[in-house]
Amino acid sequence: MNTELLPITTDSLRRAGALIQEGQLVAFPTETVYGLGGNALDEQAVLNIFRAKERPVDNPLIVHIASREQAFPLCRWTDLADTLADAFWPGPLTLLLPRTALVPDVVTAGLSTVALRLPDHEGALAFLASCGRPVAAPSANRSGRPSPTTAQHVLEDMAGRIPLILDGGISQVGLESTVLDLSGEHPTVLRPGAVTPEQIAMVAGSCEVADSVMRPLQADERAPSPGMRHRHYAPQGRLTLVQGHPDAVAREIGRLYDAQPGARILAMHSHLALYGDRPVSDLGLDAADAAHRLFYLLRSFDAQGVPRIFSETLPPTGLGLAVMNRLARAAEFDIIKV
Ligand code: TXA
Ligand code: MG
Repeated sequence: MNTELLPITTDSLRRAGALIQEGQLVAFPTETVYGLGGNALDEQAVLNIFRAKERPVDNPLIVHIASREQAFPLCRWTDLADTLADAFWPGPLTLLLPRTALVPDVVTAGLSTVALRLPDHEGALAFLASCGRPVAAPSANRSGRPSPTTAQHVLEDMAGRIPLILDGGISQVGLESTVLDLSGEHPTVLRPGAVTPEQIAMVAGSCEVADSVMRPLQADERAPSPGMRHRHYAPQGRLTLVQGHPDAVAREIGRLYDAQPGARILAMHSHLALYGDRPVSDLGLDAADAAHRLFYLLRSFDAQGVPRIFSETLPPTGLGLAVMNRLARAAEFDIIKV
């Protein structure tokens, strides 16, 4: 299959909408990462998503919608969902709600909830509108690779597997949406993202964070969100995190780096001087910069065949929690405390 990469125009949107309606797949930009879309109400189209991504079928997909009303037939909508949608939609917040029979089992991996998201991206909304139906879309990477934040990343992973990639430039947020479970007694974050637990609590009155967000799951443990069970976000080179006072961290990373030819260092901008003349990849000034750059940098390391990566950690508050969740999983929880 030939994979076309097109800018977002009236013509390419029309073509994308027609492909989705035929049961084919289209990759599209969002503010978080690129998605790999298929008609959420067409079981075969959804199965094609799993196939193109090589994704285990026990890991459910997020259903993307162009308007709040589009969610109503798919779920049991609640007042709390309304309050959260008022505050955070369109935006990087995915809501888990009890689903209706309209949603095919393959979308939810048989679970009783459906994940719903209204993205904050002009191109994504125009694409969803041109589809005229809900679109199931995981991140558009091959399973296990860092999520794509550019159309070029999608092409690396999906060339020959899908007919069309819509190019909307670089994803602003850079990490996947916050997944918030509204089906239990208290709203609970299953995957942290740019809408933070602190922000959700301000609006919802309370917000819990699943404790599996910052630790590895045991082999026999049931995952609250199946995505947490699978190896995720991983670069090809082995990643180790070093945590502690910035001076001690830089000393330890410097020592490890000097013993590992070809290694790379990830560090916050304000710490660059602590590494002397070693080349350091800059995570930026704050957690938002780090979120925006992390997957991009990991993918560039893969492209260069980097065998070994050492990274600083961030305080796990606000957006820092999302960055740390991805970093810790990419490192398979190999974290040195100094
Ligand atoms: O920002 C995003 O969310 C991107 C863009 C494309 O919208 N999408 C994305 O999808 O990251 P994906 O499939 O890579 O991640 C979806 C996560 C997985 O961890 C999955 O297990 C979880 O959401 N999930 C989906 N439906 C669920 C459900 N019913 N119950 C629990 N977890 C669910
Ligand atoms: Mg993903």
